[in-house]
Amino acid sequence: MNCYTALLCLSMIAVRAVSAASVKPKYVEFDIARYFKQEDLHSCPSSNSAVNSSVANRDYYYQITIGIGTPPQFVDFTLDTGSSDLWVFSADNPALLGTKNGINTESSAIAFNSNISSTFHKLDVPFEIYYGDRTYAAGSLVTDNLDIGGMKINNATFALATTGNSSTGVFGIGFTQNESEAKYKESESSPHPTYLNVPALMKHEGLIHSNTYSLWLNDVKANIGSILFGAVDRSKYCGQMMLVPFYNNYQNYSEHPTQARIMLNGIKLDNELQIDMNIAVLIDSGTSLAYLPEYVVASIGSQIGFEYDYVTQFYIGNATAALKKINTVQLNFSGAVINVALKDLLISLSYVEGLSDDMTVGPNDIAMLALGIAKEEYQYILGDAFMRSMYAVFDLDNYQFGLAQAKYTSAKPDIVPVIASIPNAIAAPGYANTIVDTFMTAYDPKSKTHSPSTSTLVNRPMQTPNGMFNSTQ
Ligand SMILES: *[C@@H]1O[C@H](CO)[C@@H](O)[C@H](O)[C@H]1NC(C)=O
Ligand SMILES: *[C@@H]1O[C@H](CO)[C@@H](O)[C@H](O)[C@H]1NC(C)=O
Ligand SMILES: *[C@@H]1O[C@H](CO)[C@@H](O)[C@H](O)[C@H]1NC(C)=O
Ligand SMILES: *[C@@H]1O[C@H](CO)[C@@H](O)[C@H](O)[C@H]1NC(C)=O
Ligand SMILES: *[C@@H]1O[C@H](CO)[C@@H](O)[C@H](O)[C@H]1NC(C)=O
Ligand SMILES: *[C@@H]1O[C@H](CO)[C@@H](O)[C@H](O)[C@H]1NC(C)=O
Ligand SMILES: *[C@@H]1O[C@H](CO)[C@@H](O)[C@H](O)[C@H]1NC(C)=O
Ligand SMILES: *[C@@H]1O[C@H](CO)[C@@H](O)[C@H](O)[C@H]1NC(C)=O
Repeated sequence: MNCYTALLCLSMIAVRAVSAASVKPKYVEFDIARYFKQEDLHSCPSSNSAVNSSVANRDYYYQITIGIGTPPQFVDFTLDTGSSDLWVFSADNPALLGTKNGINTESSAIAFNSNISSTFHKLDVPFEIYYGDRTYAAGSLVTDNLDIGGMKINNATFALATTGNSSTGVFGIGFTQNESEAKYKESESSPHPTYLNVPALMKHEGLIHSNTYSLWLNDVKANIGSILFGAVDRSKYCGQMMLVPFYNNYQNYSEHPTQARIMLNGIKLDNELQIDMNIAVLIDSGTSLAYLPEYVVASIGSQIGFEYDYVTQFYIGNATAALKKINTVQLNFSGAVINVALKDLLISLSYVEGLSDDMTVGPNDIAMLALGIAKEEYQYILGDAFMRSMYAVFDLDNYQFGLAQAKYTSAKPDIVPVIASIPNAIAAPGYANTIVDTFMTAYDPKSKTHSPSTSTLVNRPMQTPNGMFNSTQ
């Protein structure tokens, strides 16, 4: 299913059940829609007050529709591999006043009215979560029935938010160890999850064999991608699927990885520039763009002839000239290589400013490079802009990630269930090598010099990057 305008997609977001839970082998696939939202920029910090342009926040995220309660109320969520809680706005949330209780389309809403669900139960457990883009949600844990892609999950635990300022609820599908209420208990070597989140519950209930899901975000021009729980669709990637381990960047805190971080060892721009690095990046569908060390962003930005813009805090320049110089950005993950077309990393500045609905760059467009500067190591993130080039398989049971070059196709699916591990995948050449740089070189875009920084890999409290685009890390 393809569609080319955001408006069209809004009427097509209803869940499409592709397979029934009763059919063996067990898996469930359903569509996710890319959704556009426009709102005023929440005060974009600027270190150069001379530059004063009004930049609108053109946000995009991948959206998924889930039925909650009895009878089911269909509600839209941001799909997030970077967090682990499902939470929904309560229909009486003050943040939704004046929005018809969150009803934003004819077919679905962003809020849930628990009063009209006969299977709803409130648990006596408070809930609170803060995201990388400075949004938050708070309320309490509840249980109710869910309908995900036609698959019914009875009595699932999730959160009902009575306060918060995110633009939609979030469907976090990460490790249970990273649930917002996961508590570190002295007696245990890892944070203790409070409840089985949706993917873990699907496995526990026998709806899927393995806590594994595959994400295919599709071409930037298509607004519908898909997520497949419990299986891999071999029609949607090319070449060999490679395995890399999830990296545990909180080794002192947890025995196992708590987030979907993998090693990024190099970035190559055609044969013009190669940057070696050993960093652990979060593969995060809840983040629109990507955030990498300053010297990496600055090197790529200047190689394509872009200039750092203090207002947007991104590199900006002439798209046509950049595409004349460089075609492909090649990423090396432990020796597994993913190619991303440079044009897929350039976002039209008119789109960013809210003057156009088309993200893609045309001839002579001024473009923004979809690569921001991370403030700290744990904020190295590859979001949707990069993930679109990847067929991404998150195997949470075995703490490993399968990656292959995504194929944009409407060919007949070739779905293989994941029983114990990802089928047809081999370990990447550098699978066992997880040495990370504990030293970053800071780059000053003004003087164009590198200077040593003292940052080391330590357990830091959650901080927030600038909120230009969605980031639900
Ligand atoms: C920026 O522009 C706006 C609208 O044109 C104006 O109200 C504001 O005072 C300007 N701010 C600065 C720092 O110049
Ligand atoms: C449910 O009903 C209670 C009691 O009438 C009310 O206080 C609450 O706001 C209602 N909740 C919603 C989501 O409408
Ligand atoms: C959301 O609320 C938090 C806490 O009050 C605040 O820091 C943040 O700026 C708000 N974010 C947005 C997008 O309104
Ligand atoms: C649903 O789950 C809650 C919390 O796990 C439990 O207290 C309750 O008994 C369950 N209800 C049913 C109908 O299974
Ligand atoms: C998830 O893990 C990251 C680090 O891996 C941590 O910064 C973040 O606070 C955790 N989030 C929650 C909600 O536990
Ligand atoms: C952008 O670059 C192209 C190709 O180098 C050039 O023809 C065009 O004039 C440039 N546009 C602007 C606005 O500088
Ligand atoms: C990927 O990076 C590793 C570590 O730097 C290096 O040994 C390997 O040759 C690189 N592979 C490719 C295909 O660039
Ligand atoms: C982790 O534990 C080791 C050994 O106890 C210690 O040397 C190291 O400083 C700790 N690292 C952090 C980030 O706390």
